[in-house]
Amino acid sequence: MICSEMTRRYTILGLVGDGIAGEIVPEAMKVLRAVEKAYGLDLEVLGPYDFGAKYWVDHDMKQGWDPAVTEGLFREVDGIFKGPVGLPDLLRKLPGPNLPINMRMDLDLYANIRPCRLRPGVDSVLVGRKPGDIDYIVLRENSEHMYVGIGGYLSRGGVTELAIDDYVQTRKGCERIIRKAFEMAKTGEYKGRAGAPLDGKKRVTCTAKWGICKGDGLFKDIYHEVAEDYPDIEQDTTWIDSWSYYAIMRPNFYDVAVMPNQYGDIMSDMSGAIQGSMGLAGSLNAGDDHCFAEPTHGSAPDIAGKMISNPTSMILSVGMMLNWMGNKHGDRRLKEAWSGIDSAIDRVLGAKKVRTPDLKGNNSTSEFGSAVADEVRKGG
Ligand code: IPM
Ligand code: MG
Repeated sequence: MICSEMTRRYTILGLVGDGIAGEIVPEAMKVLRAVEKAYGLDLEVLGPYDFGAKYWVDHDMKQGWDPAVTEGLFREVDGIFKGPVGLPDLLRKLPGPNLPINMRMDLDLYANIRPCRLRPGVDSVLVGRKPGDIDYIVLRENSEHMYVGIGGYLSRGGVTELAIDDYVQTRKGCERIIRKAFEMAKTGEYKGRAGAPLDGKKRVTCTAKWGICKGDGLFKDIYHEVAEDYPDIEQDTTWIDSWSYYAIMRPNFYDVAVMPNQYGDIMSDMSGAIQGSMGLAGSLNAGDDHCFAEPTHGSAPDIAGKMISNPTSMILSVGMMLNWMGNKHGDRRLKEAWSGIDSAIDRVLGAKKVRTPDLKGNNSTSEFGSAVADEVRKGG
């Protein structure tokens, strides 16, 4: 058993993306190579391949992924990471399903894990908050709600007169994400430490708009059902509009906040600001059998090509992927590799020597990536 763990080769698929993806993905690769050596891993990386919106348009991939790719490669690899995808001027040229949404649905990646942690050496936009004060997870349901892609247009005489989107919540979809929230609160996974910074209590906040939206009512009902299985974890329910207020006013109260898809999309960007920069916002799309890592933010075409983007989000996302693989295969080295990346990021940020312009520094994307890779090699 130990022998097979020591010799197991993991295959990871890397996809680049658009805009700053071409700058931040190579930095994540640097760190992946450093971690491979430091933790005695054997990681075979396919790519990273060019696969953004530009690629889709250039290759006329109107119908989305070739099923041979999703059925084959995507399912066969142990983990996938991808840079941000999308360019505003190409949006109308992409009639097929949106790239990350497509992958989330095809691989049934129902959980989108988006940590919000104020790290050492970083200033929050919230006055007076110190590192350690903010450490919560936005757990975004990733396969339902406004993202199911059901709906359409009514056109008469060539004029679009009506657009309909259906928003869907199912018992299965609610139950599995809410259960995951409680399990994550139990272990403190992907956080600096388990529990809420304010009082150390393990707490799952359920947030949506019940009483108005029926699906959100189902979400809350199922939250209470699932919560009965976790008597040691504190329950907390807040409407999503209130949560956007409270997350700013008392971020230290939160531990794991679970919410339907659309709200998670919005609240994870707000949490990017709360933790000091979108460039620090890592995320993982996770299912039971597959995962793919990608930053919370977009391709940032406004700053692309200048090598000023912060690669932390991409590096953390790749680290989270390793942790997910470690859980799946019971391989502790992969979990240690994630901790190694997480703490190396803290040390580089905390030292305040090497930092990108979003954090008021003068270093380039690759100087920052190299500093993290060096710290990974040093360990600690
Ligand atoms: C995200 C992004 C995507 C989403 C876009 C690119 C479709 O904003 O991952 O948060 O809405 O989920
Ligand atoms: Mg988003």
